[in-house]
Amino acid sequence: MCGIVGYIGHREAADVVVDGLTRLEYRGYDSAGIVTADSQAQLEVVKRAGKLSILKEALKTNPLKGNIGIGHTRWATHGKPNDVNSHPHLSEDSKLAVIHNGIIENYMPLKAKLISNGHDFVSDTDTEVIVHLIEEHYQGDLVEAVQNALKEVTGAYALVVSHIDHEVIVAARATSPMVIGIGENENFVASDVPALLPYTRKVIFLHDGDMALIKKASIELSDFDGNIVEREISTIDWDAEAAEKSGYEHYMLKEIYEQPTVLQNTFGGRFAANGMDVELDLGLDPNSINRVVITAAGTAYYSGAVGEYLIEQVAKIPTEIELASEFRYRKPILDENTLCIVVSQSGETIDTLEALREAKRQGAKTLAILNVKGSSISREVDDSLYIHAGPEIGVASTKAYMAMLAAFELIAIWLGRARAELSDSVASELIQALRSTPGLVEHALEEREHIAQIAEQFKDKRDYLFLGRGINFPTALEGALKLKEISYIHAEAYATGEMKHGPIALIDENMPIVAIATASELYEKTISNIQEVKARDGIIISLANPDDEQIAIHSDHVIRVPKVHELISPMINVASLQLLAYETAHRLELDVDQPRNLAKSVTVE
Ligand code: G6P
Repeated sequence: MCGIVGYIGHREAADVVVDGLTRLEYRGYDSAGIVTADSQAQLEVVKRAGKLSILKEALKTNPLKGNIGIGHTRWATHGKPNDVNSHPHLSEDSKLAVIHNGIIENYMPLKAKLISNGHDFVSDTDTEVIVHLIEEHYQGDLVEAVQNALKEVTGAYALVVSHIDHEVIVAARATSPMVIGIGENENFVASDVPALLPYTRKVIFLHDGDMALIKKASIELSDFDGNIVEREISTIDWDAEAAEKSGYEHYMLKEIYEQPTVLQNTFGGRFAANGMDVELDLGLDPNSINRVVITAAGTAYYSGAVGEYLIEQVAKIPTEIELASEFRYRKPILDENTLCIVVSQSGETIDTLEALREAKRQGAKTLAILNVKGSSISREVDDSLYIHAGPEIGVASTKAYMAMLAAFELIAIWLGRARAELSDSVASELIQALRSTPGLVEHALEEREHIAQIAEQFKDKRDYLFLGRGINFPTALEGALKLKEISYIHAEAYATGEMKHGPIALIDENMPIVAIATASELYEKTISNIQEVKARDGIIISLANPDDEQIAIHSDHVIRVPKVHELISPMINVASLQLLAYETAHRLELDVDQPRNLAKSVTVE
C-alpha cells in the first residue's frame, strides 16, 4: 500500500512521476503529491488530499519543472488524509523531501526527541520524523545522513529522498517493496513494476536492508552501513499495454475479460504430452509430505479454500486452509512433512509473508503461488509457481483469482499423480476439462447483459446472501467479497446447508440470494435448500447449467453457466459473480477500480 515513483534523467520528471502514479494508484488513493528539483534554490511541491485526479488538476495551474522528481499516492495509516499529511514531506527550508511507504514504529519517541531538539512538526504522520532525522544528521553528505537517520528508525518501510543540492534520488527498503528501473541516461524507482512499463523492462528488485543511490547515469547499491551490494538485473516480460485499460471502461472489466487468456498463460506448457500429467518445475518431492497447509489473505485466501478441496479430493493429502493474518498468532503446529502453500498476487502482503516465515521457522516445506516476480515472498519461499496473470490493476482481484484456481488445479493433479492417487482416466478427464476452461469462461461472460439487468434490479438492496456447497462454497464467499468490496452492499456467504442453522432468519421478500446450483453431488440437497428460501419469500438468483430445466421453477432469475466437471466449476462460476459485482457497482456509479478504504497490496499488519 502507498505507491512511490521517482525519476531522474532528461525528461520532465513531473510527467513521468504522475504517469507512474496513475498506474500505481491501486496501492492507495487517500492523497497524492509530487516534488521536483530544478535549478531553483528549493524543491517545488504540490500535494493534495483525495485521488490523483485532484493532484493532476492542481498541477495544471501549478506545473512543476525539473528532471528529478519523486511522487506518492497514499493509503493513510498515521494522520488523516488531508493536504498537510500528504507526502512528500519537506524540511522547513524546503531543501529536503521524503516519501515513505510503511510504518515507522518508534516514531513517537523519535518525534519527542526531535521536538526537544528544536524541530517543528507540521503533520500528524510518522513519516515526518524521517525528514527531521535526516536534517539532524545532514552535513553535506546525503547518503550518510540517510544511513544515520535509518539507524535510529524501526519499522517497515520503503522510502525515497530528494535534496536540492544533490542530483540524486536516495532509496531505501526495509520490508516494503521497491524496484529500480534502468533506462538510458535516466533511471526510475517505484513501488511496483507497472509504473515502469512504458519506460523500461530492465529492473532491479531491492532487498530488505538495501539502499540505492540513483543518478541519471548510474545506480549504486549498498546496505545501510554503506557496504556495496550486488543485485541481479531482471527483465520484465509484461508489455506496457497490459497495464492500460485498452478501451474498457474500467481495469476490473478488462481484467474480467482477460481471464480466458490468463488461463491459457497459467496452463501454458504445463500439461504433459500424454494428456494425463502436469509438469511443474518444482524442487518439492511430492512423496515427502503428509499434510498441506494453505495460507493467504483476501481473495487469495478464497482461492486457497478451493485448493483445500482440490488437494484433498484429487491428491488425497489432508489439507487445511488458514487466514494468513491469524496463522502465526494461532501458534500452528507444523513439521518437515508439512507443505505450506502461500498464495499472493503481489507477493508482498505482510500477513502472508509473516505466515511464510512462521512456516519456515517450524521447518515446513514451502511453496508460493505468485503473480508478481521479484516479490518478497518469492525471495524467501522454497519454490514458486507463477500464475502469469499479468499486471492486475483493479483493486478488486479477478483475473489473479482465476489464475490461482488454475494453479491449484495443476498442483492437485501434480501431487495426485506423483503419489499414485490419481488414475490415468480421472487425470485425463480433469486435464481435458481444464483445457476447455478458457472457452467456457468466455461463454459464461456472454451472460453479461442479463447479469446487468439483475444488477440493475437489485442495486438498491442493502443486503445480499450468497450460497454455495462443497467446492463452490468458496465461490460464494468470493462472490460476496467482490460485491462488498466495490458496491458497499453488505453481502454474506454461507455454505448452503448452513443456512437453516441461522441465516434463514434474515430471509424475507427484500433479500436477494445468489444460489450456486450448478451440477454437483449435492445438487438435490441444494435444490431443497433453495426451496426453503423460496418458502420464506426470498428472491432467488440461481447460477445453473444450461440443461437444468427445473431450476427456473424455484428461482426468480437464472444465470446460466456452462457445465463442466464439478472440481473445475469454481473457475466458471466465479466469472458470473464477478460480473454481478461489477455491474452493480457500476450502476451505483461507484469507483469500481478504486473502492473506498481498500488498497491492493497490504504491506502493514
Ligand atoms: C488486499 C486486497 C485484496 C487481496 C489481498 C491479498 O486485501 O484488497 O484484493 O486479495 O490483499 O493480496 P495478495 O497480493 O496477497 O494476493
